Amino acid sequence: MKRVITYGTFDLLHYGHINLLKRAKALGDYLIVALSTDEFNWNEKHKKCYFSYEIRKQLLEAIRYVDLVIPEQSWEQKSEDVREYHIDTFVIGDDWTGKFDFLKPQCEVVYLPRTPEVSTTQIKDDLHSLNG
Ligand code: CTP
Repeated sequence: MKRVITYGTFDLLHYGHINLLKRAKALGDYLIVALSTDEFNWNEKHKKCYFSYEIRKQLLEAIRYVDLVIPEQSWEQKSEDVREYHIDTFVIGDDWTGKFDFLKPQCEVVYLPRTPEVSTTQIKDDLHSLNG
């Protein structure tokens, strides 16, 4: 069984996220999503999520491509996750191209093209301007 892992915040889940998860799952048989905790988002990514970790987790668990959701709590955990979960392929959107090549001795590393013209930030900004 080929095991795949991806990382992200997945706030205000949108079709760009679904496209990413669908293509990630197609790279193997079992997909793990390491989901940024609220603390990690705030302290490290300087992002405040609309939906809490628990809600974002529930939404991801309802998606047919996702087999397991684990917390992402630090930048450094990836290598340990790959070992612990026997990961064959690490996958993430191409906004991160090259950033995780250090995992290549441990597993395959794939950067998938992002879906154009949608992001959580864009949705927030558009709603903000709609509501004046
Ligand atoms: N992603 C994608 N296409 C998009 C948006 C996101 O493929 N249009 C991918 C990212 O590359 C990442 C995963 O989905 O692998 C989770 O991305 P995340 O940062 O949570 O979503 P964004 O919409 O990019 O959020 P933000 O605007 O807060 O950066």
